[in-house]
Amino acid sequence: MIGIAIDGPSGAGKSTIARALAKELGYIYVDTGAIYRTVGLYMYRVGVSTEDTAGIEKNLPDVQFELKYENGEQKMYLCGEDVSDKIRTPIIAKYASVVSAVPSVRAFLLETQKKLARENNVIMDGRDIGTVILPSAEVKIFLTASAESRADRRVKQLAEKGEIVGYEETLAAIRERDERDSGRDVAPLKAAEDAVLLDTSALTLEESVAAAKKIVEDRLGEKKTQKQSVKNKDKNHSGLYYWLLKYVAPFVRRLMCVHTYGTDNEKNEGPLIICANHTAIFDVLSLAVSFKRQLRYLAKKELFKIPLLSQLISALGAYSVDRGANDVGAIKKTLSLLQNGEVVAMFPQGTRYRGVDPAETPVKNGVGMMVYRSHADVQPVFIRVKGYKYRFLRRKDVIIGEPIRYEEFGFTNGGKEEYERAAKLVFDRILALRNEGLDK
Ligand code: DC
Repeated sequence: MIGIAIDGPSGAGKSTIARALAKELGYIYVDTGAIYRTVGLYMYRVGVSTEDTAGIEKNLPDVQFELKYENGEQKMYLCGEDVSDKIRTPIIAKYASVVSAVPSVRAFLLETQKKLARENNVIMDGRDIGTVILPSAEVKIFLTASAESRADRRVKQLAEKGEIVGYEETLAAIRERDERDSGRDVAPLKAAEDAVLLDTSALTLEESVAAAKKIVEDRLGEKKTQKQSVKNKDKNHSGLYYWLLKYVAPFVRRLMCVHTYGTDNEKNEGPLIICANHTAIFDVLSLAVSFKRQLRYLAKKELFKIPLLSQLISALGAYSVDRGANDVGAIKKTLSLLQNGEVVAMFPQGTRYRGVDPAETPVKNGVGMMVYRSHADVQPVFIRVKGYKYRFLRRKDVIIGEPIRYEEFGFTNGGKEEYERAAKLVFDRILALRNEGLDK
């Protein structure tokens, strides 16, 4: 997973920049300040004073918070209540700053943040992301701006919302918070040694976003080039065959009687998981000749033992998976392909069902887990063959549905139930395509 850390004092523009970059890169944006604010809100509500460290520690185990993504936006829940707006007040900002200086609070929140970064491509903003939470982040930015320019921005921001606050008092509050956040013993606000400094005092918001974007592109570009040389080696043995196949694809399509519908729906770039119903091993071939993009796919280990077929499927971008065993290698490989922006085809049923209506078959939850971990969008495809009995020369309709965006799955913390729900959503979308094009 790729991690981008953005640290800096409040008001330097971290969240706006992080949000814009996350959208562009398709990563999730994690606003860690909001987590501290939620803890702060809890302490405020139960009446613990900001001076009472023992009280904060005593109440900490009762803080039941949850972080959810709704339409791509991070939402904070406290004891089941959506408090995303309620944490944005000056008094809660103060409480957040106070609780964040308590070591046990930081320890309490550490794993949640690390887990998010382990399982997702993230852009995280906060104070200690590059130093503590993601010390090996691919990109680290330390965003600063003078206290005066931050106060100025804050006053204008609030005025736009109809709230009038004085410049001097805002500046004083910012200075006080800076001091508390930088002067504390535990995880003080400071730039990681390998962070790129970006001072936004003299920049507009648009200019700041552009500058941050450039830093990210430069850094990720370097890493990608390193990865690319490894990836190319991996691809070479199959690339030639694959392109040959693409070249002869029109003939193969005719020979196999493949009719493709919904080609306009094909998602043309970025990581993508293609999910289809499965009746025969040749489904992969039908998919390969229906899509413009090159597919990679998991194939069970046994297939690699069959002469000729083994060469053919490798040429088509197959990689092996040990079904039944928990093949961590295959999962990792799939995730890394997706991370590189490739297309992976998967069959949610987990196996072939010859002669069985797909609506009658069970669905495995592996696809759900892959989506959750890769953050990829999913393209549902229905492969229609008469009686679900695949014959090489019998007509097959490959119906490409609209992509399901990652956000639509509404994942919160992953887990079996969420994977099952996601796999079911995918399969329902596949089944919904079954009658497309019949009237034509
Ligand atoms: O970014 P923010 O203003 O929402 O953060 C609220 C407070 O939380 C801030 O005063 C410092 C603290 N914080 C922290 O100590 N570490 C983080 N990673 C994020 C925020």
